[in-house]
Amino acid sequence: MKHMATTETGLLHLLKLALCIAVMIVCALDSTESTVFINFHQAPPEQSRISTAVFQYSAEFPDGSNACKNNSCHISCELDGRTLRSCPADIIVFKNLTVNHKHSFLLNVSTRNGERNSSSYSWFIDTTPPTATIFSEQNYTSAGNIIIDVTFSEACTGLGGFKCANSSNCDVILNGPAYLHASSLRIIKPNIKYRLDLTVSLKSLRGRILVRMADNFCTDKAGNSFTRTNSSSLIIHFDRRPVLVDLWMPVPSYVMEINGVPRTVLATNKMGDLKICLDFSIPIGNSTEEVLNSLHVNSDNVLPVLIGNHGNRNFFFELRNASKAETITVKLESGLVGRTGNPVSQAASLTILYDSTKPEVRLSTSSPNLTKASDMKVIVGFTKPVFGFEASMVQVEGGKVIRFKEFSRALYSLTVLAVAQNVVSITIPAGKVHDISGNQNLASNLLEVKHYSTPAISMALYSFVTSGVIATSLTAAALSLSTANLGSYTHSCTRRY
Ligand SMILES: *[C@@H]1O[C@H](CO)[C@@H](O)[C@H](O)[C@H]1NC(C)=O
Ligand SMILES: *[C@@H]1O[C@H](CO)[C@@H](O)[C@H](O)[C@H]1NC(C)=O
Ligand SMILES: *[C@@H]1O[C@H](CO)[C@@H](O)[C@H](O)[C@H]1NC(C)=O
Ligand SMILES: *[C@@H]1O[C@H](CO)[C@@H](O)[C@H](O)[C@H]1NC(C)=O
Ligand SMILES: *[C@@H]1O[C@H](CO)[C@@H](O)[C@H](O)[C@H]1NC(C)=O
Ligand SMILES: *[C@@H]1O[C@H](CO)[C@@H](O)[C@H](O)[C@H]1NC(C)=O
Ligand SMILES: *[C@@H]1O[C@H](CO)[C@@H](O)[C@H](O)[C@H]1NC(C)=O
Ligand SMILES: *[C@@H]1O[C@H](CO)[C@@H](O)[C@H](O)[C@H]1NC(C)=O
Ligand SMILES: *[C@@H]1O[C@H](CO)[C@@H](O)[C@H](O)[C@H]1NC(C)=O
Ligand SMILES: *[C@@H]1O[C@H](CO)[C@@H](O)[C@H](O)[C@H]1NC(C)=O
Repeated sequence: MKHMATTETGLLHLLKLALCIAVMIVCALDSTESTVFINFHQAPPEQSRISTAVFQYSAEFPDGSNACKNNSCHISCELDGRTLRSCPADIIVFKNLTVNHKHSFLLNVSTRNGERNSSSYSWFIDTTPPTATIFSEQNYTSAGNIIIDVTFSEACTGLGGFKCANSSNCDVILNGPAYLHASSLRIIKPNIKYRLDLTVSLKSLRGRILVRMADNFCTDKAGNSFTRTNSSSLIIHFDRRPVLVDLWMPVPSYVMEINGVPRTVLATNKMGDLKICLDFSIPIGNSTEEVLNSLHVNSDNVLPVLIGNHGNRNFFFELRNASKAETITVKLESGLVGRTGNPVSQAASLTILYDSTKPEVRLSTSSPNLTKASDMKVIVGFTKPVFGFEASMVQVEGGKVIRFKEFSRALYSLTVLAVAQNVVSITIPAGKVHDISGNQNLASNLLEVKHYSTPAISMALYSFVTSGVIATSLTAAALSLSTANLGSYTHSCTRRY
């Protein structure tokens, strides 16, 4: 028994040795053959638009036989760098993967005999549809030719990609009085940026052109269909009309007949009326500062200051620092342009009289102040032309006005008849008449005469009209008005808003 056991032990040793040698031989042989290949039979496309991925795979020996028969392999796997708990032998399905993200799948296989191999696969889930933006610098224009840029968010080459064979067969669609030149199509950046020319019909003076992309005409690599967004359409406003401007001030205007010719006179005594309004027929392309710099005021101390801008179309300025009385001339220099690029037509300059001084009035007579004559001549001289002066405005005590004569708007003569033996006193109270700017007169001096003599044969007519307010020929002309038709209307800068 013991011998047998010894024999058996020896045999076993021998067997073990032999096996070991055999294994060594097999190992040596296997070093050239012990390869295992991993085949993916199914995998998502490299650019996928679905959030589910199916991987079907197998491990094979070089002779094509299944290396993992009877679940004899150890299989491990990773998704996006995370080791998965269980990895099936042949197929795995991933659902609800993060979209618009890169993913990777790694498979490790080791056979019972110790052969190992691994394989990884990366793909991208893209669900963002491609789109394109249409842009033109000339979205407001007076030009006949318009350049537009079409910029894709990503290459959109599926279904033939972006095409523009002719104006009736183009992925850029026009609505409006314009046509596109398919032959002008230029590739700025392959598959991404294109440039095209449009021509506006000469028949229309102004109008709108809608430029938009067609829909669903191409797909990206993941198969997402082209989708229009807001920026895939553009409205081009064209306007070939001249750009007009109205330069005005909210100052009362009077139509006066000066030397037989009706003239409009702008005059005010209110600081608040010293505003300049500029109304353009369309919004302009210049900045507020450029508009301000184009405004010129004749007087060095008067400054226009911007107080409002409505849509770059209506501008309001305030004139600051005007002195008590001056003639202000406002001019708009040329050089401004409408937002379509058309030049703004020349505006007529504006002249207004700003005067906040009250007219003074002086009564004088050449008669001695002690006389026997019962009537006397009185000269009424205003410092500037006034309106509405009548005999009834002269206050006479101890006498009455029997004659009234107008030499000019600033110079009058009266004949006063004494009705009593006492002193005759003559005066013109304040606030009876007003000048063209609306200032009411100050009270006159008081003229007192006790008795009268026959007036001098020729009496020097004089007035003490100062030259200060007669700065323009226009207001100077007003001095010689014989008749005046006063019709006044007032408007304010904000009349339209
Ligand atoms: C792993 O597989 C690749 C091909 O899938 C093969 O080229 C390579 O030799 C294999 N490596 C091993 C160690 O089996
Ligand atoms: C696999 O298992 C089957 C029976 O289930 C058996 O017939 C076959 O020999 C086994 N093959 C291997 C390679 O172990
Ligand atoms: C897969 O094999 C590689 C080496 O080939 C190893 O670095 C990695 O950790 C293995 N992954 C898993 C999940 O076993
Ligand atoms: C997919 O994943 C999101 C979170 O990533 C989750 O809110 C949603 O319920 C999941 N949907 C399904 C069908 O599992
Ligand atoms: C026109 O284009 C300019 C830039 O060129 C842009 O600032 C403006 O918003 C555009 N106007 C419209 C209505 O698209
Ligand atoms: C425009 O192009 C399409 C496709 O190339 C063609 O079938 C069609 O006849 C063309 N139309 C004109 C007016 O040239
Ligand atoms: C697109 O335009 C419509 C209407 O003009 C607007 O309601 C919507 O908010 C816009 N969408 C985007 C993303 O700007
Ligand atoms: C306003 O006018 C006064 C005198 O007319 C002058 O001294 C002052 O500098 C002016 N102010 C401005 C801002 O021009
Ligand atoms: C108004 O804008 C146009 C175009 O930008 C420019 O050429 C012109 O010089 C500007 N005008 C003024 C007065 O600044
Ligand atoms: C008359 O005139 C003289 C000077 O011309 C003057 O001094 C005097 O006060 C006057 N008398 C009256 C009553 O106005």
